Parts: sequence; structure tokens; C-alpha cells
Amino acid sequence: MATTCDEAPLGVKTVVVPAAGMGTRFLPATKTVPKELLPVVDTPGIELIAEEAASLGAARLAIITAPNKQEVMRHFDEFPELVATLQSRGKDEQAAKVERAAKIIKPVSIPQDKPLGLGHAVGLAESVLDDDEDCFAVMLPDDIVMPATVLEDMARVRRELGGSVLCAVEVSREETFNYGVFEVEDTDNDNVKKVVGMVEKPEPKDAPSNLVATGRYLLDRKIFDALRKITPGKGGELQLTDAIDLLIDAGEPVHVVIHHGTRHDLGNPGGYIPACVDFGLRSDKYGPALYKSLKAILASYEAEHAAE
Ligand code: G1P
Repeated sequence: MATTCDEAPLGVKTVVVPAAGMGTRFLPATKTVPKELLPVVDTPGIELIAEEAASLGAARLAIITAPNKQEVMRHFDEFPELVATLQSRGKDEQAAKVERAAKIIKPVSIPQDKPLGLGHAVGLAESVLDDDEDCFAVMLPDDIVMPATVLEDMARVRRELGGSVLCAVEVSREETFNYGVFEVEDTDNDNVKKVVGMVEKPEPKDAPSNLVATGRYLLDRKIFDALRKITPGKGGELQLTDAIDLLIDAGEPVHVVIHHGTRHDLGNPGGYIPACVDFGLRSDKYGPALYKSLKAILASYEAEHAAE
């Protein structure tokens, strides 16, 4: 039987995952492998996202995919022959790893034929929401936030203050040009700010603050009306940021929860490599040896560069 919003513990039944990007920063790997399937230690980023969505109590992962990226959906298939082969060889641990993805959450594919922007991608998700879903989450698979409980905090803020709640991190002013940037006012809670404006990737001198959007959004269903109204913005794309700004203009409540934990950007090699190191060091299996290897690599690197 379908889960209703009331049955989803935090009121979030659907998590939308935009995964149709071309992965240009990971070429040549992404000629044939979608970037969402690149492993962090041994687990693809999309599976980490599915686990985070399930831990939030969501029942459905709505994955926006491009026509040439169907392998992302295939990751959630069952692979019974591979499981049987592994089990017959006594490799039960590996068999369990193969089976895991299909058991986490129900994936639903939403095709996006053309890369028209994040706002367009999120707008496509309206077709899979049930009538009783007055809000839904968006998780950008490039962004890993730890601890992964930030969306739970965001759901609590929505329960209290209504409207949409986003996740903000603090960056230096020079970095704001990479992000959606919030203009905020204080609330009673230091970690929660009221958003009074939002602008996509401004010049640092025009940035209204150094609080920026990272890839977790809890959006009121009214966002779909705003998404229908926006026109191409930054980079000629339909921007989710512009639709959120419209919601604010219409008087809808929008707040941010400030995330103070770790954040990794899996969307480019410069962020992906530290993420692999961080997860690797925390792994029982690989951590101790990786720690030693890293120290040796650093020592030799420092010796080579000592004269510089
Ligand atoms: C997107 C959003 C941006 C947000 C960022 C977070 O940008 O448009 O507002 O700050 O994700 O990672 P992208 O990184 O896809 O260019």
C-alpha cells in the first residue's frame, strides 16, 4: 500500500534527485560512466543519497535522468544471477552489497530530455507526487553533508515555521560566485535564518551574504507554480534559485538551517578526492592502511617540495 505523507515520519515522502548532468568536470571518465555511479570507497554517490533519503523516512526516490544515463537506474535493479554466483562461492558479504541498493527505497525514473537547468529538472518531479504531498525534498547528488541528519532538522523547522526550508553553509565571499546566495534576517534561533532574497551565482561584490545553498532543499509544493513562471536566468538555464526568490516575493516563508558539519562536493575531482580520503579513513577495512599510506605520501610530497 502506498505511504501517505502523514505516515512518512518527517512528512517527506518523495526525495527528488537531479542526476541528468553531463559530468563534464569528470571527463574522460564520464564518457561512459555517469558521475553519480563513481564510487566513494566502494559505494556510488547515488546509493549514499538513497540511504540518506531512506533514513529521512522517504518512500520514493525520484531520479531525474538523461536519456544516455539509464545505468543510474540500473544500479537499483536486483541482479539475482550475480547474487547467486557470489553466494555459491561463499562471498556472502559481497552478495549483500549487490542486493543492498534494491532494498533501500523505491526508485522512480523521470526523464529530462534536454539539460535546461536545475529549475526545469525539479519542475518535472510534480508528475510523480501524490495529491497529499504538500512538500518534498531535493537532494543534489554532488553534495554530501555529514552528519546526514540535516534534512531532519530542516523538517522540524518547516513543521514550526511552514513554507520551504533550505540548507545553508558559510563560505568565503570570494567563493559565493559558485552558489545560490541567501539574503537573510535573524530569527530567535542562531542556526535558523529567515530568507528575504536569493540570487544565483552573483559576483562576490554583489553577494548579499556569505551563506550559500548546499544541495539539500525541503520545498513547499507551491514551488511548482513559481517554476512555471521563471524564465532562463544565470547561464541561460532555468534556475531553482529564481523560483525560490519568487516564492519569497509572494510572501511565502523560506528559511535556512545553517549546516556546521562536513560537506563534500563530489561534482569535481578536487572535491571528490578528499571525499574518498575522508570516507576511506573512516572505513574499518581500509582506514588504518590508508592512514599509513597517506602519511607516507605526504612525507614524500613535503620532502620533494621542501626547497620551494
Ligand atoms: C546548484 C544550485 C546552486 C547551489 C549549488 C549547491 O548549482 O544552482 O544554487 O548553491 O547547486 O551545490 P550547481 O552546483 O549545480 O552549479
